[in-house]
Amino acid sequence: MARPARIGVTGMGTMGAALSLNIAETGVDVALHNRTATRAHEVASGAGALAARLHPTDTLEAFVAALDTPRVVVMMVPAGAAVRATVAALRPLLAAGDILVDAGNADFRDTQAAVASLEGSGIAYLGLGVSGGEEGARHGPSLMAGGDRAAWEQVRDVFEAIAARHRGDPCAAWLGPDGAGHFVKTVHNGIEYADMELIAEVYGLMRHGQGRAPAEIGGVFARWNGGPLQSYLVEVTAEVLRATDPATGAPAVDMIVDSAGQKGTGRWTAIEALRLGRPASTVEAAVGARAWSSLRSARAAGAAALPAADVPAPALDDATLAEALLAARIVAYGQGVSILEGASAEHGWGTDLARVAEIWRAGCIIRSALLDDIARALREGLPEGQLHLAPAFAEAMARGLPALRRVVAEAALAGLPVPGFSAALAVAETMRRARTTADLIQAQRDYFGRHGFERVDADGRHHGPWAG
Ligand code: ATR
Repeated sequence: MARPARIGVTGMGTMGAALSLNIAETGVDVALHNRTATRAHEVASGAGALAARLHPTDTLEAFVAALDTPRVVVMMVPAGAAVRATVAALRPLLAAGDILVDAGNADFRDTQAAVASLEGSGIAYLGLGVSGGEEGARHGPSLMAGGDRAAWEQVRDVFEAIAARHRGDPCAAWLGPDGAGHFVKTVHNGIEYADMELIAEVYGLMRHGQGRAPAEIGGVFARWNGGPLQSYLVEVTAEVLRATDPATGAPAVDMIVDSAGQKGTGRWTAIEALRLGRPASTVEAAVGARAWSSLRSARAAGAAALPAADVPAPALDDATLAEALLAARIVAYGQGVSILEGASAEHGWGTDLARVAEIWRAGCIIRSALLDDIARALREGLPEGQLHLAPAFAEAMARGLPALRRVVAEAALAGLPVPGFSAALAVAETMRRARTTADLIQAQRDYFGRHGFERVDADGRHHGPWAG
């Protein structure tokens, strides 16, 4: 029999296979398993020189038997029912001291439930968020771990070895007990939704509002990628917009149906944010925009019923758009940070928020120049917990706020929806007002519900001079 493998991976989809090859490349033997066994053999036989370190197995029993003890099993199967089924099937084959890792995109509440279900078994559970897509999983993802800390310390070397590096620092960290890692991954995806939406809105203003060609707009994004907006998503956007469809010669983006998919992490972020009382309006705007995009026939009917007549092109230069995009991004990331802080407090995770930003600096989809500044700002501590008030962002916000106003105003006059920018502007404006209109809200609540209110000039609870 072959030597025992240090680690096993079950689920040989795109991500599971890529992660297995990445681990094997670091010199670690990996046992492979897949529900459909032939796939595990295909992954190994297609691995070239790495095949020697990959040990495909035909059954879960053989898979577990191929592992060194304590056994470390990484599950890379779809979130929800498939993870539950895999945990149930593995449980009788594992023993106290073994470590089960869910590396899929789980809802953190499912991870909490899995941890609770294993209590007393001695089997340790880790929920591991993996970001970076197939390329990341294969050559260096960002890894967000949560769950049993002692178990993490036992497998940490393997995961640090496969993770992306930012100036030598591995983008892998334990961020708290039970569902903390999967929660951080969810918020990462929520921020990703917001960032993608903001970028798409800039594209919409340039394309649908100003009538510019995709390739030209791609050139603008490519230039921006050399400055403060530098990020993987801006880089991807530049490349996509400059691509030509080989079949028709048209811009590739024009051949794509304008109906966006979503797997749920953006929605989970928005839902959890509302539960925590830390609204993620920029993320929610992005989730909403994707949902509306799928209502194609309703949009076509709307276009016929309510055509935009006599609207001007948005009078926005590229510099204004860049400044607004940077400011809106800071607001969106600030909302993400606020949700993480709220969840960490609520669940008692003790998540190191600066470490989160540090491990997002490479490997993951939202990696960007901005994250380096965010990580530093978080290490220094945020004024009033507000990212946009950090000294590092003072100039970007001072310039960005007027630009944000211009973008939202011009978009409105041009009849173009900018839900992401509108949400970001609303947050930025509200959070620079010492006095809001919530005095009236409190008066209304007191009027119809006798809720009472605090007075500006006296302690205690008061009621207004209205009969009710
Ligand atoms: P990808 O990584 O390509 O996005 P995925 O959809 O997340 O893929 O996961 C697919 C993997 O999960 C496959 O290996 C699949 O097994 P099959 O090849 O047999 O389809 C596995 N999978 C899906 N549902 C599963 C279940 N209920 N139990 C166990 N494995 C499952």
